[in-house]
Amino acid sequence: MNNVHQTETNIALNTTYKAGYRCPSNIALVKYWGKKSEGVQLPANPSISWSLGDLYANTIVEAHPRSENTAFVFTLAGEPKPSFEPKIAAFLKKIAGDCPWLEQYTLHIDSTNNFPHGTGIASSAAGFGALGLCLAHIEQLVHGAPSLDLRIEGMDFWQRSSYLSRIGSGSACRSMFDKPAVWGVSEAVSDSSDLYAVPLSQPVHPSLQGWKDVVLIVDDGEKSVSSTDGHALLEAHPYAAARFGQAQKNLGLLVQDMAEGNVNDFISIVESEALQLHAMMMTSRPYYLLMRPNTLAIIEKIWQFRESSGLPFCFTLDAGANVHLLFDGKIDETLMNFVHNTLLPYCKNGQYLCSETGKRPLSIL
Ligand code: PMV
Repeated sequence: MNNVHQTETNIALNTTYKAGYRCPSNIALVKYWGKKSEGVQLPANPSISWSLGDLYANTIVEAHPRSENTAFVFTLAGEPKPSFEPKIAAFLKKIAGDCPWLEQYTLHIDSTNNFPHGTGIASSAAGFGALGLCLAHIEQLVHGAPSLDLRIEGMDFWQRSSYLSRIGSGSACRSMFDKPAVWGVSEAVSDSSDLYAVPLSQPVHPSLQGWKDVVLIVDDGEKSVSSTDGHALLEAHPYAAARFGQAQKNLGLLVQDMAEGNVNDFISIVESEALQLHAMMMTSRPYYLLMRPNTLAIIEKIWQFRESSGLPFCFTLDAGANVHLLFDGKIDETLMNFVHNTLLPYCKNGQYLCSETGKRPLSIL
């Protein structure tokens, strides 16, 4: 493997480069909520997630030699989408120092999600994950690497993709692996970093492999608080230090439970993490109540059915009203019957999404 710094390389200016990736979304088991005060988009605590391979973004990027002063042109499934442009412009500005080659190119970015926008599921994780992968790939081409084996700034291709994605959306950096992904320094995970996510090196017990996620859409409206504003609420939060300590501890315990197959303890940490995330929101100033009555109704039904069936499943939440039902794929049929018979009446227009966990991104060119 080569180790280059971009400033030392020759950039072929007249060539157009192209890359395309399918990148999954992911669901956090231990939540990232709050950033370090120093640095760019560094997490206040480590988090761990499963990728959601069936909920993904397909993104194609072409880098054309820049003729006018246009940094990028963006389309969503082939159609202009001006409302997405400020986020992409801000992202490209933030990575300009890391990717000086960008100055020489106009990027034509086309992205499509295979799940509807506004369903409250982390579309930015899939979208920025795919964009980070495309940029890391084109960066290698620009620097003349025949395959994806060039180390840029000491990072391999996956680390570099994760690093760039992180700057667009923190959680996106965890979408790069089929194994559980850890982002943020933790003593429990060797090589863990605040700069990019790493795949969990410890083996995962068979009882915690092959789980699935059904996202129960309780509310498909706009989020009442953006992630950026939500993370900022932790800066002056009276419980922030305690929360960051809890997340550190939970991550260490969860990794151990995943290795040993302690399913009940795993479930208890995952559900506690979801409720802690919402507790932090309810106790910030300004405060937010992101759960809806149907969120609570679904959680209660999940608890009742787990109590009566003894089966391995649990819920988690993102920063919104929708409920992720996580369950061992081996009980798929029973759980899908439960979803249809008991939970769908609480979903908006009966909407839900399904995904396997643990798939990695793919090149789509
Ligand atoms: O990646 P962001 O900045 O949208 O933050 C997402 C944070 C949560 O989804 C609420 C939790 C997580 O770790 O994914």
